[in-house]
Amino acid sequence: MGILSGKKGIIFGALNDQSIAWKVAEVAHAEGAEFVLTNAPIAMRMGEINGLAEATGSQVISADATSMEDLDELFSKSMEILGGKLDLVLHSIGMSVNVRKKVPYPELNYEWLEKGWDVSAVSFHKVLQTAWKKDAMNEWGSILALSYIAAQRVFPGYNDMSDNKSYLESIARNFGYYFGKEKNVRVNTVSQSPTMTTAGSGVKGFGGFLGYADVTSPLGNASAEDCAKYCVSLFSDFTKMVTMQNLFHDGGFSSTGISKEVMDIFDKEE
Ligand code: NAI
Repeated sequence: MGILSGKKGIIFGALNDQSIAWKVAEVAHAEGAEFVLTNAPIAMRMGEINGLAEATGSQVISADATSMEDLDELFSKSMEILGGKLDLVLHSIGMSVNVRKKVPYPELNYEWLEKGWDVSAVSFHKVLQTAWKKDAMNEWGSILALSYIAAQRVFPGYNDMSDNKSYLESIARNFGYYFGKEKNVRVNTVSQSPTMTTAGSGVKGFGGFLGYADVTSPLGNASAEDCAKYCVSLFSDFTKMVTMQNLFHDGGFSSTGISKEVMDIFDKEE
């Protein structure tokens, strides 16, 4: 359809072909966008991103999203490569050391908490601040980050990532005010169904989250491909007036109390 035709941007977080950012890059390219791909230097070592770059005609710039220096360089170089200001930015980044090391929530290690908070939440503020200071966004541009419903409800095992997601969503709201008011740019988070990716499968009990959400959601879990299409719609001019929102892309999970399938597990009378 070409709904992103002429639009330029930066896509953070494509690690491998399971990554949500990878799918967003594929759909954005198919819809006519041009973009720079970026990831942390350590994630580049595996080199998988080069295949995506080739397929989408993109250049790759490594940047640690917690480093203001890296972000400054990334935005400058991207505008140089793309020949002007940006219309879209995707923040698809998450990591918790406490989750990785399987530390239970009541016993969180605070050094690790700070690291995960910086990578998963504050980095979004840093990306927004870099775009703001460099005046890098075109009017009616769109900036998105990915979130999860553990920001609103308890999912044991999601650990300090729950707090990071709450913080991330709050940043989208607060920075979204300034970006809207002064630059006519929108900022939102998309709260996606559990999805089998490298970050997702690192969470203890992830199969349980995934299966439960799938039988609870009237439409079932949303795939990474469907998430990518939704993100692309949010980068397009069809959603110009949507900002400062956390948008659930979850097959109806967030509005469902219980499904027939879950009831049947406990209802012994039938
Ligand atoms: P993924 O593991 O493919 O992507 C996470 C990305 O974060 C990787 O590309 C990784 O290299 C990048 N990253 C980590 N530290 C970084 C740093 N310092 N600087 C720059 N990049 C860094 O996994 P996925 O699932 O595609 O995750 C993308 C986003 O989607 C994350 O925010 C995640 O929390 C969110 N999400 C994932 C869900 C799932 O079930 N997989 C559900 C809802 C949201």
